[in-house]
Amino acid sequence: MSSSAGFRFSRPYEDDIPDGWTLPEGSTKRGAKAFKKHCAQCHSIYPDGRVPFAGAAAWGPTMWQVCNRTAGAVIITGNAHISKYLKDSGVVWTDANLMRYMKNPRAFTESPVQMNFAGINDVQMRVDICHYLHTLCPEHPDGRAIMAATETTPLPTLKEFGAALGLAGRAASPPAA
Ligand code: HEC
Repeated sequence: MSSSAGFRFSRPYEDDIPDGWTLPEGSTKRGAKAFKKHCAQCHSIYPDGRVPFAGAAAWGPTMWQVCNRTAGAVIITGNAHISKYLKDSGVVWTDANLMRYMKNPRAFTESPVQMNFAGINDVQMRVDICHYLHTLCPEHPDGRAIMAATETTPLPTLKEFGAALGLAGRAASPPAA
């Protein structure tokens, strides 16, 4: 998506991802934490789009297999919402585009995309989230664990959800010190 002149959004947007950019090193563990903080309240990580913890809602599509998916292509699960802005955008969720989108969803898509999200400036945090998103697929062992949990349990418990996010022991009550 060109980030040229003409968008009318008040927040200034500087595309910090040059063409030909490839994902540098990062941490799936840090990415999982950042995802939990910034994304999990609106996005499922499960193939069936479930939202297994209180306070979360499937406002957006599941992030299961989001990498290299075409925007708006996911089968809508639950109440997940996807607007024509994303469907018509033609964006493919490469790492570079995910980086740009996470920085400023509306500026990047040049549309009033319905993701009510301030954006993350920190490059490394976005890189880490990309690394985490790469685990959400059947090719990754963590992804296979998520698939197994989806198949075997009607709904994972909060603890299992935390474990799937790499936060075992934190989502549930912490062990006595
Ligand atoms: C306040 C809720 C909310 C938060 C927080 C949020 N999103 Fe979203 N997201 C949405 C909604 C709603 C959409 C659909 C927007 C539309 O269709 O206009 C969406 C769409 C997306 C899409 C496009 C999916 C597709 O299939 O095309 C991606 C990728 C995405 N979000 C990633 C993220 C990431 C990564 C984070 C955390 C850094 C995040 N979102 C935080 C609500 C949210």
